[in-house]
This record gives sequence, structure tokens and C-alpha cells, in this order.
Amino acid sequence: MSLKKKSSYPESWYPLCYSKELKKGVPQLIEVFDDKLVLFRNEDGAPTVVSRFCPHMGTDLSKGAVIDGELRCPFHHRTYGKKGECLKVPGLNEDFKGPGLKSYPAVEKFGLIFMYLGQRPLFDFPVFPRVKGEAAFSMALRKNLKTPYSSLLFNGFDTHHLTCIHNREIIAPPIMGSDSPYHLRASFSMKVLVERFYDIAVKFFGVRVVDVVLDCWGGNFLIITNKKTKDNILITSVPRDTQNSTFFLTAVTNKAEGGLLNDLFQRLRLKLTTYLGMAFLKPDEVIVEEMEPDLRSLHPQQDLCVLKFWEFWRSLPKKTL
Ligand code: FES
Ligand SMILES: [Fe+2]
Repeated sequence: MSLKKKSSYPESWYPLCYSKELKKGVPQLIEVFDDKLVLFRNEDGAPTVVSRFCPHMGTDLSKGAVIDGELRCPFHHRTYGKKGECLKVPGLNEDFKGPGLKSYPAVEKFGLIFMYLGQRPLFDFPVFPRVKGEAAFSMALRKNLKTPYSSLLFNGFDTHHLTCIHNREIIAPPIMGSDSPYHLRASFSMKVLVERFYDIAVKFFGVRVVDVVLDCWGGNFLIITNKKTKDNILITSVPRDTQNSTFFLTAVTNKAEGGLLNDLFQRLRLKLTTYLGMAFLKPDEVIVEEMEPDLRSLHPQQDLCVLKFWEFWRSLPKKTL
């Protein structure tokens, strides 16, 4: 067990890595939530997320092997299954099973592997409210930031900075709402003001005013929808430790109908949206780096969205790993 002090984080679905990074037969060590976890593909090929150390004598299981979907400890070869349960203790005649590993619910979506911080999810993996039927998505882009996790998240609901940093003018006060204790929504319209290269691309598609909906689940799962195009940008993040965070950004929409050409055009559009989304966030990266989040001086109108987000954040149940 790690002796490092661990912070608590909201119970939610967190992205860990790309699907393609988790190879069959190879355990992977991942640094998140001020600690490390082990990932492997179980007998169904699905991801399993478990605690790092073998309960027998504390060996690092990421140095073990995955054989027929079972995680095998490198030391005395105890094996563990898809729920972290101990399956075999070699060398004993009696039917003895040792203690299991701590395991976390995991899913594979949009080319990424997510885990739920908690034993039993308080809410299902979020659905995209404006995607009906099959979804199309582009491969996510990943960014590692030297940023305290909360600074990164508060940024998403800071509508005030859209004018200062992103050259967007908010036309009317945001409308806030919520569908569950784990969800927060903000809807607003913004005007594209200055022609940076990504503004030009946005305007190329005939967009002057963007109607946006932010749907946030668990504090870290942010779906940004353009109401007109129904395109969504998904930004999901995970804390690595108290000072470092990682986020993934991807574009998701309704799968195009009508053949190969439409499909190809949609792929290109989603890829472009993903790159433009990342370019849009570029100025934030420097600002949130090593930021000390302090929300005591917020203005009730100007910072309304952040204030609501803060309330929401405080109300979310928290867990340590
Ligand atoms: S330390 Fe893992 S089986 Fe002994
Ligand atoms: Fe921003």
C-alpha cells in the first residue's frame, strides 16, 4: 500500500488511457488519483482495473503476466479474475483462495478506457443527450498538464473568461439546470469575435453565433454541444496527483447515413472539430498551469456559472483510491 497522502475526488467516470494502449496479455500500470492502479484485459477482452499490489506479500502486479485473461502475480503465481477475486493459489492441495484485489467498474467507450472511482456507480456512464442511435466519434487527443485538478475543472464553467481569453461574447446570461444530483447544465449563446485561425474555420461553416450547452457529470465529464450542428465535444479529465492532470478531448455526433462519401466527410469533420477544440483550449493551458484555485472573491453575476459549479462540486460524494 502506498504511504503517499491521497486526496479525495468526486465519484465519477474517469478516462485512463486509449483502448489501443491496453494490449491483451499485458498488465499496465497507470498513475492516477495520487497512486497507481493496474489494468488488464480479462477473459472477455474487457478492461479490468485493480489495485496494484498482491495481497499475499505485496508484489507489484504490473510486473506479472496476463494468462488466459487472468492476472498472475510474478512472485508466487496467485491469479486474479475480472472482479479482482483470487482464482488460484498454486502449490496447495486444499481448496484455498486468498484475499482479492480492490477492483473498480470499467468501460471502453470512444476509443478510451474509463474507470469509475467507487465500487458501485452512483450514475451510469453518461449518454450524449443529443446523439440519437449510433454515435460517430474521432480519436481523442490527450494532454498532460501541470495543473491542479480542480483548476482544470472550474475552467470549463468559467463563462467569464470566454471573452477575455477566447474572444467570444456571451450574449445572454447562462441558464443553469440539473437532471440529477450528479449533473449540472449551463446553456448560453456566444458570438465569435476575433478571427483566429480556428475562428475562421468556424465561420467557414457559417457560424457567427454559437448556441452552446454544457452538460457536466461528476465534475469531470463535460459534454459541450453546439445546438445547431448537434456536434458534441467531450472533455474528460483525471487527476494524476495533486499538481498534475490529464484530459482527453474528442468530437462525438450522430452517425451519418447515406454511404461511404458521407461517412468519409463526417470522419474528416470530426477530426477537424477535435483539433479545433484543442486549439481553442490552448490559451487556457498556460493560465491554469500551477494555478492556485481560490474562489472566495467570485462575483455573483459575472462568475455565476463557476459559483454554481463550485456548489455542485462540493455536493458531489468524494472518494480516495
Ligand atoms: S506476492 Fe503475489 S503470490 Fe505471493
Ligand atoms: Fe477556456
